Amino acid sequence: MTEKKTRRARKTQTNSIVEDIGPWSEIKLEIIKRYAEKYSKILTKQPGLHHAYIDAFSGPGVHRSRTTGEHVKGSPLNARLVNPPFEHYYFIDVDEDKTSFLQDIIGDEPDVSIYTRDCNIVLREDILPRFAYENFWKALCLLDPYGLDLDWEVIQTAGETRSVEVFINFPIHDINRNLVRTNPKEIKDAQLERMDRFWGDRSWYPLLYEKSNDLFGEELESRIAVANAVLPRTYLQRLKGVAGFSHVSGPLAMRNKTGAVVYYMFFASNKLVAKDIVDYIFNKWGNT
Ligand SMILES: C[S@@+](CC[C@H](N)C(=O)[O-])C[C@H]1O[C@@H](n2cnc3c(N)ncnc32)[C@H](O)[C@@H]1O
Repeated sequence: MTEKKTRRARKTQTNSIVEDIGPWSEIKLEIIKRYAEKYSKILTKQPGLHHAYIDAFSGPGVHRSRTTGEHVKGSPLNARLVNPPFEHYYFIDVDEDKTSFLQDIIGDEPDVSIYTRDCNIVLREDILPRFAYENFWKALCLLDPYGLDLDWEVIQTAGETRSVEVFINFPIHDINRNLVRTNPKEIKDAQLERMDRFWGDRSWYPLLYEKSNDLFGEELESRIAVANAVLPRTYLQRLKGVAGFSHVSGPLAMRNKTGAVVYYMFFASNKLVAKDIVDYIFNKWGNT
C-alpha cells in the first residue's frame, strides 16, 4: 500500500472507531477527571496502600465532541494524565478495534493492562479479587456502559471488596426504550433477562407494572404511571442494602439538548469523605 493509501485507510478506521459524544458525556468525563485527581492525591499520601484505576467499558480513548467537532480524550486517557498517577491501570473493552486503538496510543507500558473481553467476566474472575481488603490495594472503577450491559454481580463483587469505589452510569434511556410498555406482555424475553442481569433479580418489575382485574374478573397487568426517577432511587437503595456500599452519591441526571435524561450517574464508596467530594463535584452540574 502506498503511504497515501495507508494514511487514508488509517483515517477511515479512526472515523469508524472514534465516536461523536454529546455534552452530557463531556460532563461525565469532567466529573471523573476531577474526582480521579483528588482520589489519587489522597491515596498517594497513605503509607502502605496502593491504588489502581479500572475502566471497564473503556472505549478507544478518543472521541469527537458534537459541540466543537474537535477530538477529546476519553476516560482512559484522562486517567493516564492524573497527577500523581495511579500505580496500575486496567482498561477493558469488548470491541477489539477499540482496545487496539487504545493500545496503539498508550503503547506497551508495565503499569497498564488492556483486556479485549466482556468486563462482566474479567472483573469478577480476574481483576476485582486482586482488591480484597487484606491486599492493601484500592481502586477507583468506572462502569460506563451505553445500555444494560453491566451485570449486578460486578457491583456486588466490588461492594464485597470494601476497597473499590465505583462510578456507575444507570442506563435509563435503554430501560425506557426496551422495558417500558403500556402492555408489559409486549416486552421481549431477552430484554427482561438483560434487565434482570443489570438489576440482580426481578424486583424492578413491580416498580413499573401492577396487577388488577378487569370487569369480568380477568387478571390484567398494566403500567404504573411513575416518574423516571423511581428506578434509580430504588437502585440507590440496592447499592447500599444489597451490595453493601456505605455511601452513595447521585442519582445525577445527565440530560440531552431536549432535557431528556440519557442516564443517571451514581458513585458508591465506603468512605464518607469520598462521598462528600463527589457530592461537591455533582452539585456543580445540578441535582437529580
Ligand atoms: C460509553 S462507551 C465508554 C466510553 C468511555 N468510558 C469514555 O468515557 O471515554 C461504552 C463502551 O463499552 C464497550 N462495551 C459494551 N459492552 C461491553 C462489555 N460487556 N464489556 C466491555 N466493554 C463493553 C463498548 O464497546 C463501548 O466502547
